[in-house]
Amino acid sequence: MNSDPGLHIIDHPILKRDLSVLRERSTPHGIFRQKVRDISAILAYEAMRDLAVTDYAIETPIEFTVGHALADEVVVVPILRAGLGMVDGFVRYLPEARVGHLGMYRDERTLKPVDYYKNLPGTLGSSWVFVADPMLATGGSAVGALDQLKALGGRRFRFICIVAAPAGVENVRKHHPDVHIYTAALDRELNENGYICPGLGDAGDRIFGTTPEIEAQAS
Ligand code: PRP
Ligand code: URA
Repeated sequence: MNSDPGLHIIDHPILKRDLSVLRERSTPHGIFRQKVRDISAILAYEAMRDLAVTDYAIETPIEFTVGHALADEVVVVPILRAGLGMVDGFVRYLPEARVGHLGMYRDERTLKPVDYYKNLPGTLGSSWVFVADPMLATGGSAVGALDQLKALGGRRFRFICIVAAPAGVENVRKHHPDVHIYTAALDRELNENGYICPGLGDAGDRIFGTTPEIEAQAS
């Protein structure tokens, strides 16, 4: 049972079905990429529930009524590479969203994130910032990304992932208790290589079709 109000495990039959396709090791990367996009759209929809709206007058073919416009600016920040696969899910609803990029890879030995790229819009402080990465494993990458974005003035964040491990959730909640996490699944644990179990393997490699040896990820 999840008793953390900051952890949103989205329960939906379409998500369950699509996540099963991602978990299946024989799923080809074209389908994998498509499902990442579809799942991200559902998670984005849920994570955007708190966006504020303003009223304005509109005229239907019948009469005048009240329309609603989104009041907040939105910035989506994928953590490269794998987070890139999630961006379309967000911009489907919000084509006007700005997209920042944070490049990080996880050192295979230390499991610590290594930064290699940063390109962000100057509107972080006044926007809702949705940080996207399919995998929340140790949480090192998520915490590092949020540290950087807060240092640059960001104030309102959501972290969106497809699969989370308990260790990663704990790490984000400890260092960034203000940041709610949205995920399709909370998995059991990490193996000794830092992969999520049962998980779906290396998300970046599976999205981009660069999987070297799936066996290398198993313990
Ligand atoms: C993966 C994943 C996250 C990170 C999660 O990226 O996309 O960014 O690992 O692990 P953590 O929670 O322990 O930090 P990876 O380093 O494999 O890079 P990639 O996206 O380029 O494949
Ligand atoms: N990164 C991934 O892509 N998958 C995992 O299981 C853990 C980290």
